[in-house]
Amino acid sequence: MIAVLDFGSQYTQLIVRRIRELKIYCEIFPYNVSEEILKEKGIKVIILSGGPGSANEQKSYLPDKRIFEGDYLILGICYGMQIMGKIFGSNIIKGNIREYGKTTFYPEKDVLFDGIKYPGTVWMSHYDIVENVPEGFYSIGKTDTCPIAAFKNTRGTFYGLQFHPEVVHTQDGKKILENFLYNIAKIKPDWNSSSMVDSAIKEIKEKVGSSKVICALSGGVDSSTLSMLVHKAVGENALSVFVDNGLLRKNEAKEIVEKFSPMLNMRYIEAGDIFLSNLKGITDPEEKRKIIGKTFIKIFEKQAENFGARFLAQGTLYPDLIESISAFGGPTAKIKTHHNVGGLPEKMNLNLVEPFKYLFKDEIRMIAKEINLPKEITERHPFPGPGLAIRIIGEIDEEKLEILRDSDAIFIEEIKKEKIYNEIWQAFAVLLPIKTVGIMGDMRTYQYVIALRAVKSVDGMTADWYKIPQNILDNISNRIVNEVKKVNRVVYDITSKPPATIEWE
Ligand code: XMP
Repeated sequence: MIAVLDFGSQYTQLIVRRIRELKIYCEIFPYNVSEEILKEKGIKVIILSGGPGSANEQKSYLPDKRIFEGDYLILGICYGMQIMGKIFGSNIIKGNIREYGKTTFYPEKDVLFDGIKYPGTVWMSHYDIVENVPEGFYSIGKTDTCPIAAFKNTRGTFYGLQFHPEVVHTQDGKKILENFLYNIAKIKPDWNSSSMVDSAIKEIKEKVGSSKVICALSGGVDSSTLSMLVHKAVGENALSVFVDNGLLRKNEAKEIVEKFSPMLNMRYIEAGDIFLSNLKGITDPEEKRKIIGKTFIKIFEKQAENFGARFLAQGTLYPDLIESISAFGGPTAKIKTHHNVGGLPEKMNLNLVEPFKYLFKDEIRMIAKEINLPKEITERHPFPGPGLAIRIIGEIDEEKLEILRDSDAIFIEEIKKEKIYNEIWQAFAVLLPIKTVGIMGDMRTYQYVIALRAVKSVDGMTADWYKIPQNILDNISNRIVNEVKKVNRVVYDITSKPPATIEWE
């Protein structure tokens, strides 16, 4: 296993993801994890993440210095490089300018940079720089404003990169990590989808034994994969509960029931009325999420009791867990409460089974493929737990839900027809809480606005707006205003994340 020490960078999770993509298992540890723990776990390779702190400050965040005395191979990224430099005697100073974004990088010839483009584009996000290489180290790359943008020690055991190889905008970032792990650390890649399935099933069996377990099924890739694995592991002792909260897309509930009832022991609960009445008059996005979460819990509590379940299987993913691991209380500030279907289970007196808690979303997709879940599920765009509630800006009612469902269905139908659905990471329609003036058949109209959102992303943490060809947009817009009553205007969201988020609420 590889250890990534978290100094609080917003990209710490990405480092782990990239390493796992290279089929090597790794986990995050707090920046100051003791060397004994690393030794106990048999760790030999350590990555020091970036972080918001400055190595220049008196009270900078320091790793256990014994990691530099042992037999470890270490790669420091951004702050990780600077703190390594400082420990070995570099001066860390403020650069002339803050380097942020895509930057041209001139690598020296080095095994770390084998096969990468010269010069290449890298992603920078720093103010401080390493002014001088410490004794026993030398520079292996520069940018126009940062003379030491990469260094290594003469023994070839410690490396530092001022830029972020884990960020997709770094042209050959993955290749650099690959060089480090495969060629320098000589690690053999063995983390794959079949080992993930085996370890998840084993964990479920060991934990649940002969007891009963319920799973919250939403039809999304995580919960579908989880339900299938739990059923594989414990058979009829598992019950998947699918709740129609009235906030689903057009025909979604029917499709999910048709698809899963032959494969799973499942129960369908129609609860749209309860959710909508609890959401009546609510306009605040966070309040919507909380109400939806609480309503889900109540329903699951009742179902668990009826079934006699002692366990609840939850699709908690690694990013959800990282907050409690990090010494910083999470690498990124909380922006939205991401409600997990199933809600706050510790209040439910049920024991949790969370076989995905060290996995990322794309790993779940790999498992889903491995267990032959149909493509319509594995390739489905993500859909948020609170559903259409956070795509109707402001108050929700049946009429708005119908307008949004119809508009969204046209949008998705068209991008599927044009064969761009799978190129887009997530696409959906949003109903805005305003009406605008239009003209139709010589008559004035005063109706709703639909916004279309389509993004390209790898993990939802950052996203670029997707450039749908104009003729396709034209057709979608025409169809929506012609076919959906009460809509007379369609707009296209051309903002990336950051600064916007993917969902509008
Ligand atoms: P944002 O809007 O935060 O979305 O950029 C990133 C990804 O997360 C999904 N999302 C949610 N998923 N509960 C969920 O289960 C939520 O409350 C929630 N809010 C956003 C969003 O659809 C996108 O895929």
